[in-house]
This record gives sequence, C-alpha cells and structure tokens, in this order.
Amino acid sequence: SDRTLLLAGNWKMNHDHLEAISSVQKLAWALEDAKLDETKCDVVVIPPFTDIRSVQTLIQGDKLWLTYGAQDVSQHEPGAHTGEIAASFLSRLGCTYVVVGHSERRANNHETNDVVAAKVKAALAQEITPILCIGESLEQRQEKTHVDFTLTQLEESLAGLGSAALEGLVIAYEPVWAIGTGETATAEDAAEMAAAVRAHLEEKHGSALASSTRIIYGGSVKTDNVAQIVASDDVDGALVGGASLNGPDFAALCKAAV
Ligand code: G3H
Repeated sequence: SDRTLLLAGNWKMNHDHLEAISSVQKLAWALEDAKLDETKCDVVVIPPFTDIRSVQTLIQGDKLWLTYGAQDVSQHEPGAHTGEIAASFLSRLGCTYVVVGHSERRANNHETNDVVAAKVKAALAQEITPILCIGESLEQRQEKTHVDFTLTQLEESLAGLGSAALEGLVIAYEPVWAIGTGETATAEDAAEMAAAVRAHLEEKHGSALASSTRIIYGGSVKTDNVAQIVASDDVDGALVGGASLNGPDFAALCKAAV
C-alpha cells in the first residue's frame, strides 16, 4: 500500500530518567547503523511525560522519520485540572503522536469511549496524531464477538468526529489478551481485524479515509514476529511495549519490519 509503516514504541511507566536517555540515544545510533530506509517507515518513541523534553533534545532536527509522542492526553482545555496534560502542552513539546484509549487506561483509569473520543478530538485540534487503541478481551475472543465489540468500540471512540477531522488518525488494534502476555495474535487474526476496521471506515467515512488511515497491531510484538504481522496489506505497523524498551533491540525490530 502507499501507507508508510509505523513502528511505535510505548514505554509505558518504565525507565528511569538515565535509562530513558540512554535508550533513545542508542536507538538513534542503532537505526543509523542499520541504514533503515527512512522513506519506508516512521519510528516513534513514546516515553513517560517526564522524559519527553529530554527525548526531544536528543532526537530533534535531523531525522524527521524518528519522532516522539505521549502516552495520554487530557480531554480538557488548559485550566483547573490538577495532574492533567493538555494537548497544547504536548504540541509545544513537539509531540507528533499521542496514544489514546490504551486498554490499560480504559481498565485502570475508567476511560470510557466518550472520554476517549474527547481525547481524540483534543489531540486532532492541536494537529497531534492520535494512536487510538481498540481491541477485545479474551472472553470476547472466545465468544467470537471480538469483531463486533472492537468495531463498536471504534465507532464510539470516534463519536462526534466528522470524517474530515479524522485524516491522519492511526488506529491500533490491540487484543487485550495479547498485551504483555507473550501471547501474540496470529498474523491472520491481526489481518482479519485490520481488514474489518478498514471496511468499517470505508462504510462510515468513505474510501479516501479508509485507504489513507494507518491501522497497526499491538500485543507482544517482537523482532521475530513483526515481519509476519506487517506482511498483511491491511496492517501498517506495530505498537510495541516491552520490546521497545531497549534502544538497539527496538532498532532491530524496526529493521525486521521494513
Ligand atoms: O502499547 C503497547 C501494547 O500494549 C503492547 O505491549 O508489546 O508489551 O505486549 P507489549
């Protein structure tokens, strides 16, 4: 497809400050050594909020295909919201991407589809690309309601957003049972859902948006399974947790994907 491969490393709440700096510096060097074809992929580092400034300092400027983002964003405008981070603040830090609606936040921080939709909207208003996470539980997979559930979650997480606003959105399909478990969905499972999501986008928002939207897979992606996962024409990259923490290892994963 014409869509550029996206490889996003979500560090979650890992790495102390020195580890973060060392990891991103080594990633940049390793990507350079690997002679990765930068026209073919975007590599994104997604550190905790407190390390975004340092990551910005380390990778800004020369490599536009190596960018960074945040793990969450407030749905609110700046104001009296203690502990929240506004999309405009992320924009000021040069974030190009933000993860929205990760299953860990949906489960642990009571994020409903309504809240997620408001966050997508807040990010888009600041021209930050949301990486909208959707995906079913093990129970839903076993009951074979996973496609319906995931598409409903997608629909509700985009409620109130017009098709025109959604240009540039990234959708990450992450089956909850495959996150951090070592249990990867098969390449066929990932391809099946990505195709269903694309068909849904086409039906609701038209073929231009459906063909330009990047749909990526997340859940125990590693260097040795990434190529298989992105081999499907509908799967445009990966959202990587554990295997993105070590810079050189993540560079090797990116190289294996391209
Ligand atoms: O955001 C990343 C995903 O939750 C996947 O995490 O690669 O550690 O399974 P994982």
